[in-house]
Amino acid sequence: MNITHIEHLGIAVRSIDACLPYYEHVLGLKCYNIEIVEDQKVKTAFFKVGQTKIELLEPTSEDSTIAKFIEKKGEGIHHIAFAVPSVQDALDEVSSKGVQLIDKAPRPGAEGLNIAFLHPKSTCGVLTELCM
Ligand code: CO
Repeated sequence: MNITHIEHLGIAVRSIDACLPYYEHVLGLKCYNIEIVEDQKVKTAFFKVGQTKIELLEPTSEDSTIAKFIEKKGEGIHHIAFAVPSVQDALDEVSSKGVQLIDKAPRPGAEGLNIAFLHPKSTCGVLTELCM
């Protein structure tokens, strides 16, 4: 697979509003986009750190996977997202290598990206997103 860089780190939070002061006033990062992704029942906030982004994920519904994650593990790092030239090609490749997929085909994510998740059972415990 041809990973070009870490596109973003996804961090699960209970409240984006409550976290903005830390990211903006302590770390000095600028939130440049807040977006609701209906498909995933999350509100997202983005910060750039070099060419990598930090994506805060706040659940918009109790049955959001992010709500369930926070319930189980608390707030914290939720996933790592690698940029690849083609999400479908990358999925086909890892699938042929026996990796369990959450998404068999790319779907729309925040920021107009195509995204797909690999199952943490197959990725040494880290929920892994491929995107482009
Ligand atoms: Co993500």
